[in-house]
Amino acid sequence: MKMGKGIVFIVALVAICLGGKWVEAQVHHVVGADRGWDQTSDPVSWSASRVFRVGDQIWLTYSVAQGLVAELKSREEYEACNVSNPINVYTEGLHTIPLESEGMRYFVSSEPENCKNGLKLHVEVLPKLMNVSQSLPLLP
Ligand SMILES: *[C@@H]1O[C@H](CO)[C@@H](O)[C@H](O)[C@H]1NC(C)=O
Ligand SMILES: *[C@@H]1O[C@H](CO)[C@@H](O)[C@H](O)[C@H]1NC(C)=O
Repeated sequence: MKMGKGIVFIVALVAICLGGKWVEAQVHHVVGADRGWDQTSDPVSWSASRVFRVGDQIWLTYSVAQGLVAELKSREEYEACNVSNPINVYTEGLHTIPLESEGMRYFVSSEPENCKNGLKLHVEVLPKLMNVSQSLPLLP
């Protein structure tokens, strides 16, 4: 009986630790790092070395004078910097965008000229990494 309780306790502890890890595993991606959403920070190259997962957040900071940030639905619109039909427009100069589901997200400057000059970002959102049932250590 005592033994059984001990194991339950350990399992609960492990679950708490994993819970903590999971929270830490959420990444806040500050687009363009210090320079923010800006042509000089080249968001496309910035994103190339990063991995985006469900539960992460993208932080966008930018100067509204350069144009707003539009989110587009399709790769065609993104490639063409066609902002005529955005699914979202971010206007505040500071945004936290949660990545809630897997798939591609397309962000561009609402100024087509700036978009064509590289002020754009596409992000492939991958599934969550942590699989709790897989990562539980074997109990003795
Ligand atoms: C821009 O996209 C819309 C659909 O979202 C389309 O109707 C329009 O023809 C496109 N414009 C250009 C210049 O490709
Ligand atoms: C975790 O991994 C197990 C075994 O590989 C799998 O059956 C389960 O569906 C996975 N759970 C999630 C949430 O991906």
